[in-house]
Amino acid sequence: MDTREWSAKVVVMGVCLDPTSYQALSDLMAGVPGAVNIGNLDHYGSAEREVGRALDIPHVERELGRALDIPHTRICFIDYDQNREEAIRITERLRSEYPDVPMFAVSSSSDPQGIIAAMRAGCAEYLAKPIQQVQVLDGLTRVEAKQKKKARSRVRGKVITLIGAKGGTGVTSLALHLALELAHEGKRKCILVDQHPALGDASLYLGTGRHQYSFYELANSSDRLDEELLQGFLLHHFSGLHLLDSPEMVDAIHGAPPSAVEHTLAFLANIYQFVVVDCPPGLTDGTLASIAQSEQVVIVMTAELPSVRNCVRYIEHLSKLGYAAASIHVLLNRYSKKGSLSDDRIEKALGREISLRVPNSYNEVIQAINAGTPISSENKSEFGSAIRNWAHELIRNGAGNDSIQGTAAAAAKPRVETNALFGGMRALFGK
Ligand SMILES: Nc1ncnc2c1ncn2[C@@H]1O[C@H](COP(=O)(O)OP(=O)(O)OP(=O)(O)O)[C@@H](O)[C@H]1O
Ligand SMILES: [Mg+2]
Repeated sequence: MDTREWSAKVVVMGVCLDPTSYQALSDLMAGVPGAVNIGNLDHYGSAEREVGRALDIPHVERELGRALDIPHTRICFIDYDQNREEAIRITERLRSEYPDVPMFAVSSSSDPQGIIAAMRAGCAEYLAKPIQQVQVLDGLTRVEAKQKKKARSRVRGKVITLIGAKGGTGVTSLALHLALELAHEGKRKCILVDQHPALGDASLYLGTGRHQYSFYELANSSDRLDEELLQGFLLHHFSGLHLLDSPEMVDAIHGAPPSAVEHTLAFLANIYQFVVVDCPPGLTDGTLASIAQSEQVVIVMTAELPSVRNCVRYIEHLSKLGYAAASIHVLLNRYSKKGSLSDDRIEKALGREISLRVPNSYNEVIQAINAGTPISSENKSEFGSAIRNWAHELIRNGAGNDSIQGTAAAAAKPRVETNALFGGMRALFGK
């Protein structure tokens, strides 16, 4: 008996394994301390959904009636003999939906082309039938070593998503100045993601020039995402800030499935201490995917009625989706003490406090935009110090440290009270 020990617990599942192989796997797992065998699916069709559900750790814990010790490694054993094409298809789907679940192909064929096809589809190991203990244990050892290496190199950075309560509230200007301040003097690894589906302004404002490939092209390649691939998509600002551009073309629809957007942002957070996402206005699927990966959502509004109304609606919607009040921030941009809507009225309408105020500095900001030269972080202006304070607050709060921060999605807390509904808003503002 092999006496190797794993620091991770193993949860395994079979897809279309023939009875002999499944029995061999079950016997083997029975001898691995802490291993859990979930079962064997008897069809390839829709397996990605069933495997996802079955390997979901809370589900496993419910089935077992006890909590699993973490960390745990989930592995899927796919039989490549029943239907090779289907096996390849399901491997590719699982690889893209559950990149953290390694897949082991199991087959009686040792045809090199078949082995290459399985590995290309995303299998981590190719096991020859009959399944032998030493093969499986060697595979587990390699998977664990890879996962440990990956965990060691993870930064577990903070994703901050900025959305405008309406168009033109200043999201791009704020996102890029925040990102520059966070990256200040190359002290922190920071990336700005322009998530506009076409003609985003971030690279223009930063003066980096356009990239021929956008964030969406990267997200659509998320099944082969690694640092080497990422390099080919990055724009570099001389400050050290990295940027993923928006598509330049307007004659095609650009986008990526929400799961790919989420996966790409999670990947970036493993590399960068801060990932700042500049979103178009509106709670689109892409923006919601970005919010799902974020520790903070910043709704950028100005002191105007439509902006306030939309902000209320966004907060309500995010609250209904279960996002914690603490993860939603309202930033009042172009702030002026003499604004036509007082802070009190705005806060009453929102049913919460304004989290941040950035002063109205039109000349300074528009000059920076037109010159493609952002406002320096050394700048002593009111705009400069508002951004600096914001960045320092994020850094002070442990953002981008090596500790795991819960995402906005994970940290669902009591719902935000947004009592001031739009119906009563005009009355509230005395209009
Ligand atoms: N704090 C500020 N003070 C004065 N003007 C500002 C401020 N922030 C942004 N602006 C101005 O607002 C305009 C819109 O800014 P920006 O492009 O950043 O908005 P946006 O929300 O990203 O727009 P879009 O919805 O088109 O993406 C610009 O002309 C910019 O100069
Ligand atoms: Mg913009």
